[in-house]
Amino acid sequence: MTNEAAHAREAIARQDKWHHTIEVAPGVFTPGMQDTARLLQQVSLPADLTGKRVLDIGARDGFFTFEAERRGAGEVVALDNEPPDHTGFSIAAELLGSKATYVTENVYALTPERFGSFDVVLFLGVIYHLRHPLLALDRIHDVCAPGARVLVETHMLDEGLVDDEGNFHKLTSLNPHLPGLPLVQYLPGRMLGNDFTSQWAPSRVALEGWLRGAGFEPESTWQDAFRGGATARRVDLAPTGERAVDEASAWSMDTGEVLAATKMAPRSA
Ligand SMILES: C[S@@+](CC[C@H](N)C(=O)[O-])C[C@H]1O[C@@H](n2cnc3c(N)ncnc32)[C@H](O)[C@@H]1O
Repeated sequence: MTNEAAHAREAIARQDKWHHTIEVAPGVFTPGMQDTARLLQQVSLPADLTGKRVLDIGARDGFFTFEAERRGAGEVVALDNEPPDHTGFSIAAELLGSKATYVTENVYALTPERFGSFDVVLFLGVIYHLRHPLLALDRIHDVCAPGARVLVETHMLDEGLVDDEGNFHKLTSLNPHLPGLPLVQYLPGRMLGNDFTSQWAPSRVALEGWLRGAGFEPESTWQDAFRGGATARRVDLAPTGERAVDEASAWSMDTGEVLAATKMAPRSA
């Protein structure tokens, strides 16, 4: 074994639990519980990120952060509400000589004033954990440059509706029309695989609706059993779009017009 490989193995052993499988030295991989190579194929990360500013939300051990750097990104910001030394991020970043900026922060705290704008946003394996998934998408839109692309990956409903005994059902097996509807299952407590951090399962159509409502035009979607995702482009917010729903009292229910007398102040970030 080379010195580099021995050093990498020793560093890997300092972290008890790895989520990502990362090659941190030639032929030396972190023992991630996730099939990270498969996920990389599924999410369609652009092959060339030359000069792009990339945000990796929920970066965890950093596989996608480091992959974005490897694909030429000009700058990568890794954001996670766990500090980098609670996960494998610090160890892997050091072994790989990563120059990414790590920010320990909540996705809801994203603002253009603090973070600037990004060309590509990775939002993988996070949205179904959040109490406020739509607020997170709004915050992400706020930090997207015009035409930016967001890659979302999530637990999904279409093949994984959970019943009160914890069994999974395909929507089609319940009713062939259900997959065409924007359905979201709320999973309180430990309904999903005994995991209290998992709260939502959107159907593919609902995920597209969530994205459109937040100002993203879906370009492609994919599904693999209980998981799936979408790639979407940032578009300008329509003045009467779904994001204005919190201000519904300012609209005429009949015409959809803004009521001049109650015109709202611009929404703050
Ligand atoms: C299941 S892991 C996904 C890791 C990686 N993105 C992937 O798909 O392989 C979810 C990550 O999101 C982070 N996370 C959860 N809620 C968050 C929040 N509100 N703001 C920022 N990060 C969050 C967790 O700490 C965790 O590292």
